[in-house]
Parts: sequence; C-alpha cells; structure tokens
Amino acid sequence: MIGVFDSGLGGLSVLSALTCALPDADYIYLADSANAPYGDKSEAFIQQRVLALGAHLVGAGCTMLVVACNTGTVAAIQSLRAAYPGIAVVGVEPGIKPAAESSLSRKIAVLATEATARSERLAQLVKQHATGVHVDIVACPGWATLVEQCHINDSGLARDAERWLDPLLASGVDRIVLGCTHYSFLSHVLQPIAGPRAELVDVSAAIARQAMRLHQGHGNSSGSLQLLTTGQSHRLRSALPLLGLDVLATRVRSITQVAV
Ligand code: DGL
Repeated sequence: MIGVFDSGLGGLSVLSALTCALPDADYIYLADSANAPYGDKSEAFIQQRVLALGAHLVGAGCTMLVVACNTGTVAAIQSLRAAYPGIAVVGVEPGIKPAAESSLSRKIAVLATEATARSERLAQLVKQHATGVHVDIVACPGWATLVEQCHINDSGLARDAERWLDPLLASGVDRIVLGCTHYSFLSHVLQPIAGPRAELVDVSAAIARQAMRLHQGHGNSSGSLQLLTTGQSHRLRSALPLLGLDVLATRVRSITQVAV
C-alpha cells in the first residue's frame, strides 16, 4: 500500500501521476485539509503535521510514503525518513534541476508557497543545480487556498499571475517551475500567460517514475484508492470532478474523515 499525503488537495496531482505509473498498486491519500494551507505556517508546525500524517499512514499499513507536498518535503522529509528507516519515503521538491538544465535563456522562475520560498532547502537546490542560471523565486500567497476551494478559474488569480509573471517573462525567463503541488491545478491559467515564451515545469511524472523504481509490489494489490481527509469528506468528494480528476474518482473505494 502506498500512502500519499499533502496539506490538502494539491497532492492529488501527484497521486494522478502515480496511478498512471503504478496502476495496480493500492493507495491511501490523506489530505490535511483542516490545516491547509501550510505555506503560511511555521516550520515547526509543518514538521509536526508531516510526522503525524506519516505515522497515520504507516499505522494504516503503508509500506511506502509519498510526501506530495513541496512545503512538507523541504521542511520535514529528513525527520520522516529518520522516523521510518524501513520505509521508502519519496518527496516532491521544486524542479530546479530540470528547469535549469533545459533553460536556453539561463533564466528561470519558481512559484512556491511562502514557506518553501524562504526555505534553506530551496536555496540549497538553487546552489546545487542552477549554477550560472538566474533564478527568481516568487511566493504566491493565497493560490493553494484557491485550489482547496476549487476556485481554479478565479479572475483574481489570473490577474495576480499576470502581474507577477509578465515582468519575469519580459526579462527572458523561459522556464517556470511549479513549486507547489496545488499549482498543477492552475496550469490552464498559467500556461496561456507564459505563452510560447516559457514552459511550465511540473515534476509529478518524474516523482511517479521514482516511486515506480522504489516500489516493491506484493502481488495481491487491486488498484484501489482510499481517500482520507482531516477536513470534510463531502468537500473532498465534490473536489474530484471540479479539479478534473474523474479518472482518479473511478478508483475510489471510500472517502473518510479522520482525526490526525
Ligand atoms: N501543496 C503544497 C506544496 O506542494 C502546500 C500548499 C500549502 O498548503 O500551502 O507546497
């Protein structure tokens, strides 16, 4: 069983990629929607949530964990790995490396939550993978909440995105890293603004390939999906079609509210 979790709905974009790469595996997805967004919370709070959610999924029988949250990964993946040395833990971090490697203009931008934007880990990724590349880091407060509310066609969002992206695009940025899993659900707004000038970089498929390499199937899985949320289960149920996840919805066996 693979346990996947996020502050809320954003990690469903990663789950979607995982189910394409590993269609026969069984999954539990845990959305911490009662505590979303994480982006404006302290590192200590995020670490405590990541460890609690991980413990819940391990207790439910998961033998692999996917932290489908950049904010959670940069704050707490090391503590999570230390807590469960016998379990494969895959995290999601902003795709600085693929963006820097493929940028022709040598100018890239990263869109992320406030917590990820100010994290030491992001600074480290830039240092490690983007030597000689100009990297603009843009915190996008409020965007994860819009996705949580399934307001993915919000007009304010398109205005914000234009205001923040236009100067970057004008300066020659040709890769825009989606450094928060919630933002995958905003690609349809962001890509038209980026137009032909810049490509969006989303690491979901790469994460799914990494999980595929690490996953050890046990032969008796059936491709099932249990959805858990610390928020209201009816909201999670209605989010699936609103976020374009009808295919994922066909796997769902149960949707349950949990206290974690
Ligand atoms: N989906 C998360 C991420 O990838 C966190 C968004 C939030 O809760 O602020 O960073």
